[in-house]
Amino acid sequence: MRACPALNKVGTCNPIHCETTSDPSPLGSELDTIGDRSVAPRVSKCLVRPSASADIPDITAIYANFVATTTATFELVAPDAAEMLRRRQAVLDHGLPFLVAELEGYIVGFCYASQFRPREGYRFTVEDSIYVRPDCIGHGVGKVLLAELIAQCQALGCHSMVACICGVNVSSVALHASLGFQQVGLLAEAGIKFGEWLRLLIMQRALE
Ligand SMILES: CC(C)(COP(=O)(O)OP(=O)(O)OC[C@H]1O[C@@H](n2cnc3c(N)ncnc32)[C@H](O)[C@@H]1OP(=O)(O)O)[C@@H](O)C(=O)NCCC(=O)NCCS
Repeated sequence: MRACPALNKVGTCNPIHCETTSDPSPLGSELDTIGDRSVAPRVSKCLVRPSASADIPDITAIYANFVATTTATFELVAPDAAEMLRRRQAVLDHGLPFLVAELEGYIVGFCYASQFRPREGYRFTVEDSIYVRPDCIGHGVGKVLLAELIAQCQALGCHSMVACICGVNVSSVALHASLGFQQVGLLAEAGIKFGEWLRLLIMQRALE
């Protein structure tokens, strides 16, 4: 596997995305001295914008890494670009946001809101999904993305946002807590991945 130029500097997870692209880390030399989270620089130039269909290959690659190597999602087989395009369209068809974070021209993360459950009575409750490119984790990208998603869902009149967090996921819990989500539920052994039963932690934030 070809090493991601930024991996040792950032010290995060498996650089599968970097194997599939020649993108250098858009965080670049800013990260020379990263040793732990307490000194991780925040991304200040990150642009959050609505996704375009041209972003689908990058979105697909970012998500595929997490499907293949982590329990961040209970999905077992990574969806291809056509399926990700269909999923994005389903979000947009509900009038909900599907956003990307762009840094120096590279897509470094994405997030979207979907209706929490399909029955009509749930229509004012949305669930967020958020993924940051592995070599850009821990530098504020997730927070700017999720903050914008929250703001857009508030503007749309949504009532609350729910995060369903698979297994033990310290980063996701910290991200959501930092934006006002509180733990409201915990399902033991809700799913199985890599041969292990995993819990589902539910966090919620009011939007009104
Ligand atoms: C979860 C995820 C989206 C967070 O995005 P991120 O860019 O790494 O997070 P940020 O750097 O914006 O951090 C947001 C907040 O969480 C805190 N945080 C993030 N990771 C943390 C960790 N491992 N330990 C402690 N705090 C952490 C940050 O300090 C920050 O809080 P602050 O603003 O109060 O200082 C990202 O780590 C990711 O994509 N993980 C893999 C996929 C995943 O788990 N998605 C969520 C599925 S539910």
